[in-house]
Amino acid sequence: MTLSYRVVNKLNMTAEKPERSDEQAKEDLLSQSKQEGQEATRRQPKDGEATSQSKDHWTHAAYRASASFVPLLTQEIVLWLSPQPTDCILDLGCGDGVLTAKIADSCPNIVGVDASANLISAARESYGDDPVSWHVLDCRYMENSDMLVEGFYEKVFSNAALHWILRDEETRMSILRGVYKTLRLGGSFVFEMGGAGNVADVHTALLAALVHQGVSVKKAREACPWFFPSEQLITNMLQDVGFAVERTRLEYRPTKLTLEEGGGLEGWVRLMGAQFLEVLPEVATREAVVREVCDVLGSVVTREEDGSMWLGYVRLKVLARKT
Ligand SMILES: C[S@@+](CC[C@H](N)C(=O)[O-])C[C@H]1O[C@@H](n2cnc3c(N)ncnc32)[C@H](O)[C@@H]1O
Repeated sequence: MTLSYRVVNKLNMTAEKPERSDEQAKEDLLSQSKQEGQEATRRQPKDGEATSQSKDHWTHAAYRASASFVPLLTQEIVLWLSPQPTDCILDLGCGDGVLTAKIADSCPNIVGVDASANLISAARESYGDDPVSWHVLDCRYMENSDMLVEGFYEKVFSNAALHWILRDEETRMSILRGVYKTLRLGGSFVFEMGGAGNVADVHTALLAALVHQGVSVKKAREACPWFFPSEQLITNMLQDVGFAVERTRLEYRPTKLTLEEGGGLEGWVRLMGAQFLEVLPEVATREAVVREVCDVLGSVVTREEDGSMWLGYVRLKVLARKT
C-alpha cells in the first residue's frame, strides 16, 4: 500500500469519528501525513527507477538545469489562488516543491503530490516535512483511490502539471471528478497549465524529427505526453463535472530558456521530450532526434541581439469553483 493511500485511509477513518472537530481532525491528519511521508522517502526508488505507475522521467538536476523558471513565473496564478492561513490546499504535480514551499509561507496546511519519486525526494530534502507534507501520487488514479477524501480541501492548486496529468483521455474526466470531490463546497480549483498552441515550435520539431527516423505520424503523435486544451475545451470539461468556471485566461508567454549546463534547448528537449525520444529503441537514433530538433529550432527561437533562446509558451489559467 502506498504512502498516500495509507494517509488517506486515515483521513477517511478520522472523518467518520463524530466526536472530534473537523479542524482538529485536519490538523492531526496533516501531522500524520508528514510523518508517513518521511518513512516513504526512505523507501523511494532510485533515480530513473520505475514507480508503481510508470517510469520516472524526472530528475531534480535536470529539472533545475532546464526548467528552473517554471515555478517562478507564477505571480498571477498565485494571486488567483490567494492562499489564506486557514486554507487546506492540495498541490497536484508539485514537482521539486519550490512553488509549494513558497505558497506555504501564506498557508501552512498544504499537501504536495507528484508522480515522480525523484522530485518528491528532492522536495523533502530541500524543505523538510514541515509545513508541507509531500507524497508520491499518480494523480491519474486519484478519483478511485483511498487518497480521495470528500470535501477535505478549501483549494486544489496546480502549476505546469495538468497538461501531463490530463494527457490520457481515459483518465481525464475521472481526475477532474476527483478534484471536485476532494474540495469542500465553495472550494476552488486554481491552476495554470499549457494551453492550446503551447510550445508549438518544439512540439512540431519533435514530431518531424521522429518521422524522419521512420516513425509514423500516428505513433509520433501518440508519444506526445501533453494535453494543451483551449479555454473553451477546459471550460466544458470542468462544467461537465459540476464546476462553475469563474475565470480563464489563455496567454502567449514566450519563455527564455536557461543558460545552465545541461539546460538550454537541448536540456529542455531531453527532459520534457523524454517520452517522444523513448519511441526509438536505439540511443543513436534518439540522439539524432535531439540534434535535429536543436539544429532546426536554433535559428527560429534565438534572438539576434543577445543569443538568448525563447520557446513559445502558451499558458492557460483557470479558476473554477465547486458549487
Ligand atoms: C513541469 S513540472 C511542474 C512542477 C511544479 N508544479 C512547478 O511548478 O515547478 C510537471 C510535474 O508534473 C508531474 N506529473 C506528471 N504526470 C503526473 C501524474 N500523472 N501525477 C502526478 N504528477 C504528475 C511531474 O512529475 C512533474 O513534477
